[in-house]
Amino acid sequence: MSSENYILILGATGNIGGKIAQELILKNAMIGVAGRSRQKLATFAGKAELLEGDFNEDAFLQQAFFKATSLFLTVPDDALATPAVTAQRLINLIQSSPIRHVVNISNCITEKYGQPTRLVAFEQELNKMGSINLLHLRCANFFENLHWGLHTPYKPDLALPYISSYEVASVAATYLLNRDFSGNSVKELMGPRDYTMAELAAAAGEEYVQLPYTDNNRHFYKGFNDGDFKVTPRTASNTSPLSENRFTLEYFLTHDFVQSVN
Ligand SMILES: NC(=O)c1ccc[n+]([C@@H]2O[C@H](COP(=O)([O-])OP(=O)(O)OC[C@H]3O[C@@H](n4cnc5c(N)ncnc54)[C@H](OP(=O)(O)O)[C@@H]3O)[C@@H](O)[C@H]2O)c1
Repeated sequence: MSSENYILILGATGNIGGKIAQELILKNAMIGVAGRSRQKLATFAGKAELLEGDFNEDAFLQQAFFKATSLFLTVPDDALATPAVTAQRLINLIQSSPIRHVVNISNCITEKYGQPTRLVAFEQELNKMGSINLLHLRCANFFENLHWGLHTPYKPDLALPYISSYEVASVAATYLLNRDFSGNSVKELMGPRDYTMAELAAAAGEEYVQLPYTDNNRHFYKGFNDGDFKVTPRTASNTSPLSENRFTLEYFLTHDFVQSVN
């Protein structure tokens, strides 16, 4: 354990943050876990410093950043709606803290409808920080998205990259521990391969049914169905080596998948 690296994990009660915290606890890292729910944070009692509070309150982040040297950053959706404002707020808070390494979760879908996606727009704003070492993890879709439903308005033959959140967490934890990145950088995590929606449903034992759009979801799905988006090109180096069974779709479907009612 390094006494010099205190790693703060925002969103530690969520999917990715929680898995990063578990990885780091197994490696005896010194960590703080942040979230709004005292009850959910209690799962880390005795293994991490519990920091209960709201991302949108400066006083809370200031206190949480006070002794951190490394930060896992995930920004709540409402704060992503104003990327420049949120990034400037974080830049001010980070620069007046001991934090020198930040791992930020981002997205491999870089554009939609001709505009940068929200996480990519936020990356660009955060890059203005300059003085801190900042790594953006541009991740494929998490397998957990299947919890939204196996059957959606996506076209059956639409292929998108998917990845295990265990793999994302493992990569993030390793960077937070080793701090072997500098300046502004990007790591692409594209998962083992692209999957069509029909393939994903079939892997879970079902025949895919394309659902109609609703007024609420048309904007989200139509851009994908019309090909009006940009995704990080797949290469050998951003494709998962599948070094662990828990990084596979099969593991997710067997261990973590909870079938929802469409
Ligand atoms: N799903 C995908 O395919 C995908 C792909 C690429 C990137 N991403 C991005 O990955 C990130 C993390 O995803 P995830 O699946 O881990 O999300 P998640 O499970 O919903 O977790 C979100 C975390 O943020 C915390 N949180 C939310 N609002 C907060 C607030 N106002 N103050 C403090 N904490 C707050 C939640 O804690 P409490 O509610 O307990 O406070 C929770 O710990 C997101 O930015 C997502 O856009 C997702």
